[in-house]
Amino acid sequence: MEGTLVVVGSINADLVTHVERHPQPGETLLGRGDDIKAGGKGANQAVAAALQGAHVEFVGAVGADHYRKPAVRNLHSSGVDMTAVTEIDDELTGLAVITVDEKGENTIIVVPGANARVDDQYVSGHRERIAAADIVLLQGEIPPSGFREAVAAAQGRVIINLAPVVDVDRESLLRADPLIANEHEAGLILDQLGTPADDDDPHALAAALIDAGFSSAVITLGAAGALVADPELTDIPTPQVEAVDTVGAGDAFAGALCAKLLAEPGIALADAARHAARVGAFSVTRSGAQDSYPGAGDLLPE
Ligand code: RIB
Repeated sequence: MEGTLVVVGSINADLVTHVERHPQPGETLLGRGDDIKAGGKGANQAVAAALQGAHVEFVGAVGADHYRKPAVRNLHSSGVDMTAVTEIDDELTGLAVITVDEKGENTIIVVPGANARVDDQYVSGHRERIAAADIVLLQGEIPPSGFREAVAAAQGRVIINLAPVVDVDRESLLRADPLIANEHEAGLILDQLGTPADDDDPHALAAALIDAGFSSAVITLGAAGALVADPELTDIPTPQVEAVDTVGAGDAFAGALCAKLLAEPGIALADAARHAARVGAFSVTRSGAQDSYPGAGDLLPE
């Protein structure tokens, strides 16, 4: 039987500008505008998983403004169940102001808008849906109270990509199996848990996360691949591609990882991560977050 992934997370409209280089503080630069793109770490991960063939349901909120439509476009077109997404009259849709430079590196400022309303009270209205999920996937773009409530409701596997790293309940965070984090986030999470790493080498970070109490962890390393700890450490290579835009590549990885774990119950985390790395690599070869994600029929780089 097909499993279900429930994402409790953020939905944003991404306002993307392209520049030769990022501005210095106090500097004004000319850039090139782009369409308003669909984004938000929660929505990106949900769309990435749905495009890989997973059955995905979303718990979240948008505003009643003109950014709502572009923000939810791909969630609808990729077949994500949006029954538990509420349009809030007196709120604005989450907004991300993104700058991408010539090397494909980005900076992002997020204005949460309606995502800030996905708190414990809101999430508790969707407890049954969350409890029925095989996997519940969370990020750091909803309030910590909503995060805690979602983990408390979950009866299946909980996967957490705490991006950005916000101060969440320790017990809830340690339910992650796996925790997905980049090197920088892994360091911040260890600090938050009061077990700072002595070394910022990925292997040391991964081992420290296991020592801190996580059953498993995946450290994403961009063009260098990923590292899985479950608790044995396995280096995951990634195909070498020409990066055009890295926005949402980590989200593509997280969504694809969940889709693979659902599609092949019992698969080793390292094997699911190998697939996710290829999906992430595909995504950096195209512009945007969700707009860059492969469908099940697309040829993934080797
Ligand atoms: O991870 C990329 C995402 O971060 C963007 O889509 C933006 O909306 C922010 O949430």
